[in-house]
Amino acid sequence: MSDTNKTKKTTTDSASGERKKPTLLVGIDLGTSRTALAANNGFRICISTCVGKPKDAVSEKLFGKRLLFGDDALNNRMAVELIQPLGDGVIDTSPEVKEANIAAVQALLRHLLSQASNKEDEVIYGVIGMPARASVSNKRLLVEAMRGIFEAVMIVSEPFSVAYGLDILTDALVLDIGAGTMDLCRMHGSLPTEEDQETIDKAGNYVDRTLYDLIKKRYPEAQFTINMIKSIKERYGYVSDKEERIEVQFTVDGRPRMFDITKELKEACLSIVPDLTEATYKLIGSFDPEFQRRLRANVVVGGGGSQMAGLAAIIEKSLDELGGGAVRIIDEPVYAGANGALKVAIEMPELFWEHLKD
Ligand SMILES: Nc1ncnc2c1ncn2[C@@H]1O[C@H](COP(=O)(O)OP(=O)(O)OP(=O)(O)O)[C@@H](O)[C@H]1O
Ligand SMILES: [Mg+2]
Repeated sequence: MSDTNKTKKTTTDSASGERKKPTLLVGIDLGTSRTALAANNGFRICISTCVGKPKDAVSEKLFGKRLLFGDDALNNRMAVELIQPLGDGVIDTSPEVKEANIAAVQALLRHLLSQASNKEDEVIYGVIGMPARASVSNKRLLVEAMRGIFEAVMIVSEPFSVAYGLDILTDALVLDIGAGTMDLCRMHGSLPTEEDQETIDKAGNYVDRTLYDLIKKRYPEAQFTINMIKSIKERYGYVSDKEERIEVQFTVDGRPRMFDITKELKEACLSIVPDLTEATYKLIGSFDPEFQRRLRANVVVGGGGSQMAGLAAIIEKSLDELGGGAVRIIDEPVYAGANGALKVAIEMPELFWEHLKD
């Protein structure tokens, strides 16, 4: 972050060449589960990607007409209409929710930017991370939704921004395990292309649903929600061989009881590993054979899902089939994408930006 704090930029009026307003640069990791933002004035923030809209007269009495954001929305979900606008890493465009989701993303970003920017006349340039293989139409949708919010935007792939932020520019395979998607990207010293990237529509949310179903099946009497299951996974999630018993408390008809979920938790966490392994094999196996060994030797894993205990070891084991490799989990998975996107914002030349004013 240190060098990013020092960077200042002002926009230039291309017609007159005159300096315009001061410019704030931001990097945004717009995720299915949480959104992180890092700005070149040192500000950063991370909130759950959700927006709550008061749903009736009582909730309006409580909150007024204002929207709630992040955990504030989640914690008041009984009182608000909860909008989680992203599914599988992109804006969910199912016809019945498309407009509301676009509006929610806009409101969420305005909310974050209003905290990041404290100068009235400041214009904002934003780099936004999306899944590696997000469709052209979904990228376009996001760019158009940003009109009036940003002066200019750039969309980058999530694993690329993670890699760029960590200065991993070559000889590496980056895996980003999020809530909606797992994204993979080969770094080889130049901008990655379509062939260098893979997106799998199965990640943390899939683990949560699997765990929910497995526990429901074994203990039909237990009372729990998907949010409780997600918290349990985040606390105890593992894919290793340690056979420590994991017991959690649920209620049965309102009465607390302990439940052993050791087996179910491991099975659910492991449920995304085969797809991850397959995509890893594909990106390594289709790379220039002279450089495959270097990729295998530098597999870097980020995203919230990278925190499942034992994940590095299990990926490393899967690389044995290709001749062995080394895997490391990055240190700061929450801000890695946003920090990288900010670095892209600072370093990429003007021609990479899409200006949103006519
Ligand atoms: N300690 C943990 N162990 C296991 N999973 C975790 C842990 N912490 C967070 N997660 C999971 O990581 C996922 C969130 O990761 P991240 O914030 O990188 O995703 P995202 O960027 O919101 O999603 P996407 O990239 O798919 O759009 C969630 O499924 C969350 O439950
Ligand atoms: Mg993500």
